[in-house]
Amino acid sequence: MTHKITLIPGDGIGPEVMNAVTRILDASGVKFEWETVLAGAEAYEKYREYVPKALTESVERTRVALKGPITTPIGGGFASINVQLRKQFDLYANFRPVSNLPHIPTRYPDIDLVVIRENTEGLYSGLEHEVVPGVVESLKVMTEKACTRIARFAFEYARRKQRKKVHAVHKANIMKLSDGLFLRCSRNVAKEYPEITYGEHIVDNTCMQLVMNPYQYDMLVMENLYGDIISDLCAGLVGGLGLVPSANLGDQGAIFEAVHGSAPDIAGRNLANPTALLRSALLMLNHIGEPDAANNIQSALEEIYRHRDQLTRDVGGKAGTSEFADAVIQTMQSGSTVE
Ligand code: NAI
Repeated sequence: MTHKITLIPGDGIGPEVMNAVTRILDASGVKFEWETVLAGAEAYEKYREYVPKALTESVERTRVALKGPITTPIGGGFASINVQLRKQFDLYANFRPVSNLPHIPTRYPDIDLVVIRENTEGLYSGLEHEVVPGVVESLKVMTEKACTRIARFAFEYARRKQRKKVHAVHKANIMKLSDGLFLRCSRNVAKEYPEITYGEHIVDNTCMQLVMNPYQYDMLVMENLYGDIISDLCAGLVGGLGLVPSANLGDQGAIFEAVHGSAPDIAGRNLANPTALLRSALLMLNHIGEPDAANNIQSALEEIYRHRDQLTRDVGGKAGTSEFADAVIQTMQSGSTVE
């Protein structure tokens, strides 16, 4: 069977890490037909649209996309393409598993956390306007529907994977209405899953607790902006942004992407670590029903990290992006470590 997948290379380090990852995927034995489409500033240059029709049509057709990071201008310019895509396809659940790779020096071994982030509303939507010069308003819109479905997503996942605890992360002491609604919905859903322990932590305390003792958590569910921040914190627990995957999931489709951004400071220099996008691609392989290929790549990846010779600079190695990909492919195909 050939899988049709929409491929959005993104910009900055996007095309480099994407090239490395698609080479590994193509070498895995699974057959792919990649539909490559542009998004963001490059798409605008070509089509005068940041999310061109070709991209929308492709995702509607394939329902699965692998995406590189896309730069969002700071303090002006166009709205985030990432936010637009998540809203456009109603990819309401951002799923971010966080775990260690072998031999990456971190403060804590054996981290196994899942961060579930509501992906379609909240302050992260960027609904802002200038009331009068010098006064701006930023809107945090929360709905019972979205809060309930993200809580249900978290608990369903916990039940399916036999995870023990779900914590709702909030700031309902201050945002009594919006985060209060989020908590009410989470509590209601939690009642339907008596085998799973339900807890609530205020977001600032959660950050401190994660740094002091991450093992107290199993799964965390939260609104959009807190999820953005907490998931980067969690990436730091296991070695950094170059390592952590994510999936944007909804009923109409799925977009798999790394947690990190376009890293303009290292773009175009063959320095980026493709591990995060590769691990996102492993989530994609499981999603499309190719778990064996996912397991093979995962084993090769772990072997590379155990051996340490072919790691990228962000994790203490000397290899470039493409050499790292070569090493994964060679290990996967030979079943042994690259010398
Ligand atoms: P960033 O994640 O691009 O970079 C933060 C730091 O981590 C930099 O020092 C970078 O070199 C390093 N880093 C990130 N990915 C790496 C990798 N794969 N290998 C090695 N080092 C890596 O975050 P920043 O600088 O805040 O954002 C840059 C741009 O990316 C912004 O325009 C932002 O809006 C966009 N962005 C896009 C995302 C997406 O498309 N999903 C997600 C996050 C940010």
